[in-house]
Amino acid sequence: MIHHAARITEIVEENYRVKTFTLDLALPTARPGQFAMVWLPSVNERPLSLLDGSPLRFTVARVGDFTTALHNLRVGERLWVRGPLGNGFTVRGRHLLLAGGGYGVAPMHYVARAALTAGAQVSVVIGARTAVDLLFLDRFAALGVPVVTTTDDGSAGLAGLVTAGVEHLLAATATPIDQLYGCGPGPMLAALERLAAQRHLPSQLSWENKMRCGIGICGTCEKEGWLVCSEGPVRVAA
Ligand SMILES: Cc1cc2nc3c(=O)[nH]c(=O)nc-3n(C[C@H](O)[C@H](O)[C@H](O)COP(=O)(O)OP(=O)(O)OC[C@H]3O[C@@H](n4cnc5c(N)ncnc54)[C@H](O)[C@@H]3O)c2cc1C
Ligand code: FES
Repeated sequence: MIHHAARITEIVEENYRVKTFTLDLALPTARPGQFAMVWLPSVNERPLSLLDGSPLRFTVARVGDFTTALHNLRVGERLWVRGPLGNGFTVRGRHLLLAGGGYGVAPMHYVARAALTAGAQVSVVIGARTAVDLLFLDRFAALGVPVVTTTDDGSAGLAGLVTAGVEHLLAATATPIDQLYGCGPGPMLAALERLAAQRHLPSQLSWENKMRCGIGICGTCEKEGWLVCSEGPVRVAA
């Protein structure tokens, strides 16, 4: 798969360590939940979830060498992209519950827009460690969908994990939830997986692992017998 050269056209500072990048590149076949391999020559290549395919947008947390180098780029500078990759989410059901932790809210926003376009109802849980880490409150407000927030330290919204917000919405909603969608840190996804199993709720959860090829060749992303890059990142449980 070839690398597409792209330039950054816009950078939005979401908070003290997260930025959203817009590129002058469109991936017209992209779907919510897919990712792209982004290459910065002499730094590294990393998978990033799509916030949008056309134009291409990513939301990136600064945690290490690659993400720091990406955060240091300015509008007009170049990077290279392979994608879209992975299976992505499928909009299924009339009422979707979307749970995003950290930068995992970005693919949730993409699937929310697709679901609303398809005529489905959407409810959202946004979780973070603390109030300043909550992302996309304004972007989801602009969609006009109900949002419950959770913080680990109780500094905003419900105190506790994203699952506390999911439990809250499951109890409070007037129309039944047909499908649970999630993207975020591994422990959050494991908790969502357990909750969905207990409630017999079909789920689509997007998982992460270290990646190299991104296309099912090298085996780097193997997780308990499946390849996150080519068989995922979204795992469907009926
Ligand atoms: C399918 C997929 C989609 C992804 N989508 C996104 C995305 O949309 N936005 C995004 O920012 N990242 C995303 N990632 C993660 C991204 O690919 C990088 O692995 C991550 O940003 C760290 O890269 P780095 O080189 O900067 O840090 P590294 O040098 O790899 O890590 C530096 C340190 O930070 C820790 N670390 C790594 N990742 C995280 C994290 N997420 N939170 C806290 N600590 C961490 C490492 O354990 C290490 O100690 C995705 C990963 C996958 C597999
Ligand atoms: S990253 Fe190479 S097989 Fe998944």
